[in-house]
Amino acid sequence: MRKAFVVGHPIAHSRSPLIHGHWLTQHGIAGSYERIDVPPERFEAFVRGLAAAGFAGGNVTIPHKEAAFRLADTLTPRATKIGAVNTLVVGEDGGIHGDNTDAPGFIAHLEQTLGTGWLEHSNGTAVVLGAGGAARAVVAGLAERGMSRIRIANRTPERARALVEIDPRRVGILDWATLPEALSEARLLVNTTSLGMTGHPPLDIDLGPLPNGAAVADIVYAPLETPLLAAARARGLATVDGLGMLLHQAVPGFSDWFGVRPEVTPELRALVVADLRR
Ligand code: ATR
Repeated sequence: MRKAFVVGHPIAHSRSPLIHGHWLTQHGIAGSYERIDVPPERFEAFVRGLAAAGFAGGNVTIPHKEAAFRLADTLTPRATKIGAVNTLVVGEDGGIHGDNTDAPGFIAHLEQTLGTGWLEHSNGTAVVLGAGGAARAVVAGLAERGMSRIRIANRTPERARALVEIDPRRVGILDWATLPEALSEARLLVNTTSLGMTGHPPLDIDLGPLPNGAAVADIVYAPLETPLLAAARARGLATVDGLGMLLHQAVPGFSDWFGVRPEVTPELRALVVADLRR
């Protein structure tokens, strides 16, 4: 029986067991996917013990993504670029391979929502708000997919500056005060800050300057429709919610550990939405 896990601290809130459990049942796989709470001081020992414990691999979440990046024996180019690992695969030889599937997860959901080819044909600028771990994944995903210009605005400008290295030819920074001008040239706006999340203040920006035909994406998924997405919809703009990224980032790991590439179906989405409302 193949075994996988999600590790974090705390971990009780994680929806990953629901997602992977659904796929295991759907595909009739006699595997397991468990939630494991490991504090930072025990994380290295946990990773070193994965092969002996018989794990095929697992997901890594807050606060271990950077530590997983440092501890992996090999990394995908994408994980190297982002500097964080959210998916581990234990090799035949016991070596630990690290990947970051948040970037392709964001892109897969964007293309599922807006149409395949939307990014290739969107010869324009993306404005990304925020410069944390999620922003790194979003920027790397957009750059890899060929978005010609990506401009980052963040409350703390130094943090945004650090993201330029992801792809200096495409990525630049933006002063928050000049957002209205920047938005008037943007084809895509992405919120990666925690603003708009339940219990946090809303993201207070005017979507007026965005051209018709622009799309607005949020990585916040609780609530499912953030005030930002509601405002975008009211303006007639296409919207991309945050839940899809969570669902799609899970696909490559499941495929590596259990040997079947699962699909993000409306049924899976409904299952997670019901759980979020509980
Ligand atoms: P994650 O890894 O999930 O992206 P993070 O590293 O804590 O989380 O980043 C959160 C992002 O939300 C940051 O860009 C943060 O801005 P700072 O870098 O200036 O801290 C942004 N953020 C959080 N609260 C904010 C607020 N009240 N106003 C503006 N930006 C905020």
